Amino acid sequence: MKSIIKIILPLFGLLILMNCDTKTYDEISDVKPITTVVSYNKNVKSIIDNNCVVCHSPTGSNPYAPLTDYTSVKNAVDEILDRIQRPNGDPLKMPQGGTLSQDNINVIIKWKADGLQEN
Ligand code: HEC
Repeated sequence: MKSIIKIILPLFGLLILMNCDTKTYDEISDVKPITTVVSYNKNVKSIIDNNCVVCHSPTGSNPYAPLTDYTSVKNAVDEILDRIQRPNGDPLKMPQGGTLSQDNINVIIKWKADGLQEN
């Protein structure tokens, strides 16, 4: 009897530990704090290039709203923030057919809060 408890108790402990780990990681990854000043060239450009420019460029499906340089992205920042934070299934959600990670959304939010720095 004692030996069964000796085996089961640590297993329970392990389960609880694993549970805590998962929850804590999710919570942290959702609100990963950004501690440096965000700029277009250092942080924002790569997100837009990887997720938006395929359509938002002269040869893409939305050539009328290019997001290919600092000025165009800066001028559209309020509409970008609106579009990328729309719920799944909203036809106006961007990127079309996908979604940005919360970390990437947070970068754009902080870029605006930091004054839309270029470099
Ligand atoms: C698969 C193609 C595609 C991708 C990828 C895409 N878009 Fe779009 N986007 C469109 C199309 C088409 C429209 C026009 C229809 C509409 O307004 O929803 C549009 C419209 C917009 C608009 C409104 C601008 C205007 O006046 O026309 C914004 C802002 C925008 N997208 C931002 C983004 C951002 C930011 C990303 C990347 C995170 C992105 N889009 C990714 C196709 C795309």
